[in-house]
Amino acid sequence: MKPSAAERVASATGPEGFPRGGLPEIAILGRSNVGKSSLLNQLVARKRLAFASSKPGTTRLLHFYRVERASGALVLVDLPGYGFARVARSERAAWRALVEGYLNGRAPLRACLLLQDVRRELTDDETLLLPWLAERGIPAIAVLTKCDKLSANERRTRVGRLSAAFDLPRDRVIATSAESGLGIPALWKAIDAAAGDGER
Ligand code: GTP
Ligand code: MG
Repeated sequence: MKPSAAERVASATGPEGFPRGGLPEIAILGRSNVGKSSLLNQLVARKRLAFASSKPGTTRLLHFYRVERASGALVLVDLPGYGFARVARSERAAWRALVEGYLNGRAPLRACLLLQDVRRELTDDETLLLPWLAERGIPAIAVLTKCDKLSANERRTRVGRLSAAFDLPRDRVIATSAESGLGIPALWKAIDAAAGDGER
């Protein structure tokens, strides 16, 4: 459902900075540069709420955005991207600690959007993340990004292939574009189903 308002409520470098309100949360996870911040902006119909950039690895904090829906508020969490080849090993360890520190035992977390560029193949990062989330009882929704870069035919082929690679039911794989808005209503439907009603 299209939200009526959105605002950033926190930016955190660790658990002490996570908001305490208890609103349902949906986390946005994916490789650096896959389009996490752009998707978030498109979801809330704001051009520059979340910081998007062509320079990979620019989001090093967890950003929490409160979004108002008719069915109640929820929080979208923009997680820092993984797999940025040029970062040092110590920085990768810091990423893990930060993101796992959030995903492990975060009570308000209702689902994780796992973003994947529709043009690229899955790597171990994605195929390992799904069982990791499942073990923790966190539902995953695969979101294919940048679908505007393909023709409708190419897109159908890639969506089929990636759904099989993710081994997720077809309604848990959503083809989107932050450029054209493709798939945003379908994604909101999936988010609403996962988050349930929020605070009114
Ligand atoms: P980090 O925060 O660095 O991990 O990146 P991110 O995943 O938040 O990616 P971001 O939204 O900053 O987008 C990265 C680049 O991809 C930017 O240049 C965006 O304009 C571009 N981009 C994102 N989504 C789309 C899309 O749907 N279509 C097209 N054509 N470009 C996109
Ligand atoms: Mg980002």
